[in-house]
Amino acid sequence: MNLNRNDLCWCGSGSKYKKCHIDFDDKLDSLKSQGYLVPPRELIKTKEQIEGIRKSAKINNSVLDLVAENIKEGMSTDEIDKLVHDYTLSCGAIPATLNFQGYPKSLCTSINDEVCHGIPHKDIILKNGDIINIDVSTIFNGYYSDASRMFIIGEARDNAKRLVEVSKECLYKGIEAVKPWGHLDHIGASIQEHAEKHGYSVVRDFGGHGIGLEFHEGPFVPHYGNYGEGMILVPGMVFTIEPMINEGSYEIVIDQDDKWTVFTEDGSLSSQWEHMLLVTEDGVEILSK
Ligand code: MF3
Ligand code: CO
Repeated sequence: MNLNRNDLCWCGSGSKYKKCHIDFDDKLDSLKSQGYLVPPRELIKTKEQIEGIRKSAKINNSVLDLVAENIKEGMSTDEIDKLVHDYTLSCGAIPATLNFQGYPKSLCTSINDEVCHGIPHKDIILKNGDIINIDVSTIFNGYYSDASRMFIIGEARDNAKRLVEVSKECLYKGIEAVKPWGHLDHIGASIQEHAEKHGYSVVRDFGGHGIGLEFHEGPFVPHYGNYGEGMILVPGMVFTIEPMINEGSYEIVIDQDDKWTVFTEDGSLSSQWEHMLLVTEDGVEILSK
């Protein structure tokens, strides 16, 4: 699409192209010709889309708050599912995981050595000392959001508490690494550095992802990697950072019966926190809070 300087900008701002994204597009073209990987335009959200995503993310966050108020020892993960399902519908929204590629529930609940995508079940009862990831995603008005938090049930062992803490620090190291016109892999490099400094490993087979108009969009966001590599990040990109940090090795296995639940191969603990980020003109905004 070749716009003239006096045409309205493609971003829907209502301004002329020459007053809006023309310099932005020139900068991307020039980076591209220098061999950098640059995002395609469909990964750059308009103001209107960002507002829609923001509203969805607010509801998603209130779902996580509701879980935080109610989660306790003795509860089944299916009870959490019912809570999330009913509350999400009461907000006029839809749980994004429900029926997603055949996934049967309204959130993922991953306990102890489960890395991600654990399925709520009436017979899975929260016990004292468990660590659990609650991963919630919402569709509101067609816009997708996704975030997750860890919860410690009762009193956990020191090593479990430390893993939960350090994995949260890893998420924030990743967020701090998001810079407009910076490199995507800076995120993973920062996370990997922090995790390995504490003797942990970073899961490689799953990563963060673009999100907003679909549940999973480009780019794939690795949580490990090298500084100075990867796609150029630009204002208007929206994606998740959701590092899965293992106490032992980063190798994983997928449950052969349910085809969803991901475990650490060595049975060690795993912990994950997730936010949704918007790259802004001067930094990064956490949409999921
Ligand atoms: N929030 C999870 C993710 O982005 C959802 C995975 S799809 C599911 O990885 F069906 F497993 F829930
Ligand atoms: Co996600």
